[in-house]
Amino acid sequence: MTVRVGILGAGFIGRIHALNLRKDARVQLVGVADVVPQAADRLAAEVGVKPVPSLEALFEAGINAVYITTPNTMHVDPVLRSLIAGVHVFSEKPMATSLEGAWFIREAAKRGNRVYQLGFNRRFANVYAFAKQVIEDGRIAPFEAQMKHNRGELKQPPWTGDPKVTGGYLYETPIHMFDMARFLFGDVKELQGWARRSVYQELDGFIALLRFHSGVIASLTSVAHTSWLFPYERVEIYGEHKTVVTEELERAWFSPGIREQVEALDCFQMPFEQKWGYVEEDRMFIDAVLGERPPAVTADDGYCATELVEACYRAVRDERLITLPLPEPVPQR
Ligand SMILES: NC(=O)c1ccc[n+]([C@@H]2O[C@H](COP(=O)([O-])OP(=O)(O)OC[C@H]3O[C@@H](n4cnc5c(N)ncnc54)[C@H](O)[C@@H]3O)[C@@H](O)[C@H]2O)c1
Repeated sequence: MTVRVGILGAGFIGRIHALNLRKDARVQLVGVADVVPQAADRLAAEVGVKPVPSLEALFEAGINAVYITTPNTMHVDPVLRSLIAGVHVFSEKPMATSLEGAWFIREAAKRGNRVYQLGFNRRFANVYAFAKQVIEDGRIAPFEAQMKHNRGELKQPPWTGDPKVTGGYLYETPIHMFDMARFLFGDVKELQGWARRSVYQELDGFIALLRFHSGVIASLTSVAHTSWLFPYERVEIYGEHKTVVTEELERAWFSPGIREQVEALDCFQMPFEQKWGYVEEDRMFIDAVLGERPPAVTADDGYCATELVEACYRAVRDERLITLPLPEPVPQR
């Protein structure tokens, strides 16, 4: 079977996925839609398909899967419409920008028999796969961790500085790190945090403390205005005289013990779309559509990451420790 794919949102990440999919023999790209016709025209021309004006036009073109690559607050509506139309969905992060939005998608994904996969690409990036493997192989039992995920600015693309479009800074890049925390250490039991509004018109610097059911304790820092001084993303995991470090999506190290040789992974020369995990997540999405495996990042994963972001905002707002899971929202749709 050939998977007929449409792209909604012809910007930076829509293009990355379209270029990956074009190389997959199991995929036929069918159309590209964008509210800005020139954006759709440009990407459609680059990948050799038709530009179309809307999601409905993609449905009419006979797609069986869609990539939702619009800005953050514009995910829930097209995702739900696609699932209801019986179309498999790959959605860029965040799943939603409220717990309620995430709840609706989780329920729709549960009810239907269509694939929903979320774009937490870092899970497939070589450096994080390395860290995860060291943990899964039992070569380190994590006790503590220090996680940092900064941004240089909230100017590029311009909507990243507008909370009405991002849903709030934590829903922009930092949500990747909340998902990574779960991916590496399991579900979070409790969280507390502090934040400042220093440069932008919203809270733009966060320090959170997390305690996991696994017993791991971790700090998570994310600041939006650091310049892009390398490394703006770094994770350190500590075990018994052992450490795993990831730096950006470029390098990772495992120190297996005192005076032992350190193992290193260097991805510096790899193509960007590979070392960032985009190639792998796209391949796994098509596998899932073809029924060869379950989706690699599920609606439950998306709901839990949304819950962590909400818990962090609540901890900051109420200045108190937040226990998870949060009460399920009462949907108002
Ligand atoms: N996983 C990752 O590493 C990663 C990286 C970049 C972006 N993202 C996410 O992908 C999404 C898009 O980000 P981007 O950097 O590609 O942004 P972008 O601004 O480059 O592209 C977004 C595109 O969506 C179009 N658009 C806006 N509203 C629309 C609508 N209602 N219907 C159709 N098209 C619409 C815009 O015209 C634009 O062409 C965001 O949610 C972002 O958080 C994820």
